[in-house]
Amino acid sequence: MASYDVIIIGAGPGGYVCAIRCAQLGLKTAVVEGRETLGGTCLNVGCIPSKAMLHATHQLHESEHNFAKMGLKGKSPSVDWKQMLTYKNEVVDGNTKGIEFLFKKNKIDWLKGWGSIPEPGRVKVGDDTHEAKNIVIATGSETASLPGVEIDEKVVVSSTGALELAKVPKKMVVIGAGVIGLELGSVYARLGAEVTVIEYLDAVTPGMDGEVQKNLQKILKKQGLTFVMGAAVQSVEALKTKAKVHYKLRKDDSEATLDADTVLVATGRKPYTDGLGLDALGVEISKRGQVQTDKQWQTSVKGIYAIGDAIDGPMLAHKAEDEGMAVAEVLAGKHGHVNYGVIPGVIYTHPEVASVGQTEEELKQEGRAYKAGKFMFMGNGRAKANFAAEGFVKILADKETDRILGAHIIGPMAGDLIHEVCVAMEFGASAEDLALTCHAHPTYSEAVREAALACGDGPIHS
Ligand code: NAI
Repeated sequence: MASYDVIIIGAGPGGYVCAIRCAQLGLKTAVVEGRETLGGTCLNVGCIPSKAMLHATHQLHESEHNFAKMGLKGKSPSVDWKQMLTYKNEVVDGNTKGIEFLFKKNKIDWLKGWGSIPEPGRVKVGDDTHEAKNIVIATGSETASLPGVEIDEKVVVSSTGALELAKVPKKMVVIGAGVIGLELGSVYARLGAEVTVIEYLDAVTPGMDGEVQKNLQKILKKQGLTFVMGAAVQSVEALKTKAKVHYKLRKDDSEATLDADTVLVATGRKPYTDGLGLDALGVEISKRGQVQTDKQWQTSVKGIYAIGDAIDGPMLAHKAEDEGMAVAEVLAGKHGHVNYGVIPGVIYTHPEVASVGQTEEELKQEGRAYKAGKFMFMGNGRAKANFAAEGFVKILADKETDRILGAHIIGPMAGDLIHEVCVAMEFGASAEDLALTCHAHPTYSEAVREAALACGDGPIHS
């Protein structure tokens, strides 16, 4: 029986990052992973492959819409679907092999197979049982489907099947205008599919800043996506190569049906902890299936910890990574900390959407006096030159102290721009601190500074 300081179950961004940090801190570490490759949902069938598809199809969009304006004339490229999937798979391959290399470099054992916890201090993988002073559950999440909807990953697909379609569908229905629905809906709209998004609520991307939600929906409509809002999908009838999506409008209970070649179910995800044996161990689990932990990520059973999508909080790879590092610090006898108030969220549509901290809606509800500084990318020279002048940066700051409370960006490279605000928030900065920081010209980042200036005496370029 092999013996470890820590065994981590699951090699997604939470688990593999936790393992590397544990090893760096001198702990004898192993990771259990049943997939053929490391990296979990994010690297294999989630964040990374979808970004490859978004990148490829954005290039196509640029060639179709902007090349001629810049004097780049000629026929737009045609789509070789097989090659696009090969490119995506090669990107995944390179990344998962990279994790394997990092495991070897850090002397982390990969215990191949699906793990369970027969008793505290023991992890079973296949016929072998291993000893561990501490166990970290990092088993992630799975697609949460709807009643009346069966996912076959061919006609009715989750994000996994949507990244492996046999061909580009003519008609695609996306159920759910959340992050997955809008990112993958964008991919197929750019490839020429007629994409209709059916959303239960009256706004896209629940929880985001209201102004950003409206702007994003307007921009995506212009890009060719159709939205049916306030509609609850009742069932999906799957035929051999087609499907019928039945929905009901919430406002008047009227029913309607949409035909599709492909239906993407993007109605959220739920924690995945099947087969671990948590019930028998007495590990507390919430009604929503989340493993309950204390502030140090320890479950109700001593020596068993949990992180990432399997526990409470936003289901984001980087949130899982931060928890992974923090748990490693705790296990090594140090102080592990995650600032849940400063976790950015990004949607990789074009333009991108990024946010951190509180929204105006949240601040209003709290009754907090705040000011909003907004700057449109129309006033940013670099954005105009790059046909990327849609959207804005909005910074929210406390009315009296000027301390930054949140930022909401829709625009070019929003997912990168947000981080200067994150750093500022970590340091408890005021909007004026950002406004007084020199920003290189011409960059998209100047729009962030201008929004900060808008919290004070006003932006220069609007
Ligand atoms: P989501 O929670 O973002 O959105 C699901 C949407 O489906 C909601 O707007 C909801 O109102 C709607 N919905 C639910 N039931 C419905 C029904 N019967 N009919 C019509 N609409 C219905 O979930 P999504 O997009 O599936 O993503 C899952 C998780 O993965 C999220 O937590 C997300 O944060 C994460 N993710 C993050 C990414 C990123 O950071 N860029 C990329 C992809 C996923």
